[in-house]
Amino acid sequence: MNHQNHQPNHQGERPAMLKVTGLQKIYNGGATAVEAVRDLTFELAEGELVCLVGPSGCGKTTLLKCIAGLMAPTGGTVELADRPVLAPPPGMAVVFQEYGRSLFAWMSVRDNVELPLKEKKLPKARRTELVTESLEAVGLTGFADSYPWQLSGGMQQRVAIARAIAYEPQVLLMDEPFAAVDAQTRADLEDLVREIWQRLGVTVLFVTHDIDEAVYLGERVLVLSNSPTVVQDDITVDLPVERDQLTTRQDERFTDLRARVYAQIQRAKRGTDQPVA
Ligand SMILES: Nc1ncnc2c1ncn2[C@@H]1O[C@H](COP(=O)(O)OP(=O)(O)O)[C@@H](O)[C@H]1O
Ligand SMILES: [Mg+2]
Repeated sequence: MNHQNHQPNHQGERPAMLKVTGLQKIYNGGATAVEAVRDLTFELAEGELVCLVGPSGCGKTTLLKCIAGLMAPTGGTVELADRPVLAPPPGMAVVFQEYGRSLFAWMSVRDNVELPLKEKKLPKARRTELVTESLEAVGLTGFADSYPWQLSGGMQQRVAIARAIAYEPQVLLMDEPFAAVDAQTRADLEDLVREIWQRLGVTVLFVTHDIDEAVYLGERVLVLSNSPTVVQDDITVDLPVERDQLTTRQDERFTDLRARVYAQIQRAKRGTDQPVA
């Protein structure tokens, strides 16, 4: 796949890769049931980069776990390339927020990145190639023999990203992956995500609570309401494909989009039935 000339999204022109229809999730843990997600319906076209924002506790992680086939929804369906997701599908990779816990401490960086490739039963030569390439892509060449605990938080998160891209997924799910890294690293990692997305043509669903990050990264921003959650707004980010931390963020259009997402989030926090102020 080569999407060097990635154009901003025009939904409907590319085939759907991920389809979420009427998704509902009720947790039945203790004495009371918690309806985390009420009714979510949206699609990601093949090769699209969509950001998902919403108030804390609105069900973003719940949604990603259902999409990844790690948890069964109470109602509704998830489809990946027209096939229902009932268990973790082979074409999907997830980068979680708690990268510290998602890496194996006793395995070197190389072994961490290679593990899913072994599960995919790729031959050794190809595995080595993919590990080398993906570590290079995240700027960790030379750290293959290090252990996660020897690296900073930002570097550990880059290992988790390398592991996800080495796997060459059709769909990449990222759950607030940069919440715990410093601002400079975060900016670098944001640019890395866009670079990888353009290079590999992978479909990306990126969850964040950061409005600027959502607008900077996405071709589209989905705003979720407060729990019980529905899709409150679906905003096309009509910024140029080539983005830059300085000029893009100063662009008047960026500021407008940011304001719109901000207003929707404020509305989401007040509850779905309130009009925008
Ligand atoms: N395992 C669980 N059991 C019961 N309630 C849960 C569980 N996981 C999450 N919740 C509840 O579901 C809602 C959504 O949580 P979550 O998906 O983590 O939101 P977000 O990622 O947007 O912060 C919250 O009210 C949370 O307390
Ligand atoms: Mg979460």
